[in-house]
Amino acid sequence: MLAAAGIVALSGTAQAAATTLGAAAAEKGRYFGTAVAANRLGEADYTATLNTEFSSVTPENEMKWDALEPSRGSFSYGSADRIVSHAEGRGMQVRGHTLVWHSQLPGWVGSLGATDLRSAMNNHITQVMTHYKGRIAAWDVVNEAFQDGGSGARRSSPFQDKLGDGFIEEAFRTARAADPAAQLCYNDYNTDGANAKSNAVYAMVKDFKQRGVPIDCVGFQSHFNAQSPVPSDYQANLQRFADLGVDVQITELDIEGSGSAQATNYANVTKACLAVTRCTGITVWGVTDKYSWRSSGTPLLFDGTYQKKPAYAAVLTALGGTPDGGGNPPGGGTGSCTAAYTTTASWPGGYNGQVTVTAGSAAITTWEVPLTFTAPQKVANSWNGTASWDGSGTVLTMRPSYNGSLAAGASTSFGFTVTTNGGSASPPAVGACKVS
Ligand code: G3I
Repeated sequence: MLAAAGIVALSGTAQAAATTLGAAAAEKGRYFGTAVAANRLGEADYTATLNTEFSSVTPENEMKWDALEPSRGSFSYGSADRIVSHAEGRGMQVRGHTLVWHSQLPGWVGSLGATDLRSAMNNHITQVMTHYKGRIAAWDVVNEAFQDGGSGARRSSPFQDKLGDGFIEEAFRTARAADPAAQLCYNDYNTDGANAKSNAVYAMVKDFKQRGVPIDCVGFQSHFNAQSPVPSDYQANLQRFADLGVDVQITELDIEGSGSAQATNYANVTKACLAVTRCTGITVWGVTDKYSWRSSGTPLLFDGTYQKKPAYAAVLTALGGTPDGGGNPPGGGTGSCTAAYTTTASWPGGYNGQVTVTAGSAAITTWEVPLTFTAPQKVANSWNGTASWDGSGTVLTMRPSYNGSLAAGASTSFGFTVTTNGGSASPPAVGACKVS
């Protein structure tokens, strides 16, 4: 329910471009995600970068079989729960990765006979999806079930070898029954252009769609380097899968390299997704180069000290956002600004607020706006700004995510989602905009 209530002032200028990956992707109707490791969430720069830039997370290892069911029937959700709670508290969506995979599979699974293995597979899917029911946007139900090379054959695994080709279909049917709200994906690598492997996956998806086997999406991992570059038919390949009637998602993107070459590759992948209507989002396989599984190849958007790389600016620009060009110059403080608040949506238990910041008759280089919320309201998520709380937990000061420059009379907006926690739904008191 939309309610254009609480308009304090109106700005006549157009809204400035988004300044974060998540916000820019949202303006294109997509998410921009990252793989996350639970044991890094205590690192301030890691978490600040995650919270500011990304709108979706994929647990990098914490939802794999060896992590969740290390011994038969005994489930341990601690690390995965930590990531899911972190995401939910900030309005990020979660991709579940992954239910059935030959790797990171505890030894006990491989030693089961066919009958036991079938029931263990179905039980694993059912237990895990039930634990997270309604909280996972998309699950990689089956991961990497096809061989590399020219055969287009299935990869050997306990599931393939003991249950035969039908295990994938069975896994998807079990998954649909366990959480009907989750999108169900098949996910693989080296399927990013047309080749024997992607053709085999294509044939399987086509068959599933024709026979009504529940599949909603195909994930393209997109791990690229000099030996495995971005294929020239990347977009066409995404499109041919989308044309089968599934969403496509870029699920583990990383591209080794540096500088403008890496930036160009990242921009091309981003543009390919935007050009395919059913490409619903992009996930990069990590926040920072220093924790990448291919760390020496520096394949991500933030370097080891969380500085934005040229590839970051290229992706943000491709998404229609505005890169920072190096951050705020020091010595701001001249000029003036105003802040105007609007409630852009409301529902029982919460609302979205937006504040438009407009520079006065002179250009400004940065700004800050204090917002005082009524307890027990909580800000669940904010975008297009960096939020910091005072000690009391009621006054939030929003500042630009990085580049706060506004030309004379120009505007930018930031927004936030508030949960009322059973209390009042009054909008925040908006303090004076300050050029800081
Ligand atoms: O946490 C332990 C640590 O306690 C121990 O000391 C150390 C010693 O080896 O291992 C640590 O675990 C490692 C784990 O990553 C966390 O860093 C595992 O050995 C290592 O095998 C594991 O690698 C993961 C890999 O999947 C396993 O196949 C990578 O982080 C993860 O990025 C990678 O992700 C996969 C996707 O799931 C599927 N597609 C390919 C992609 C890249 O390989």
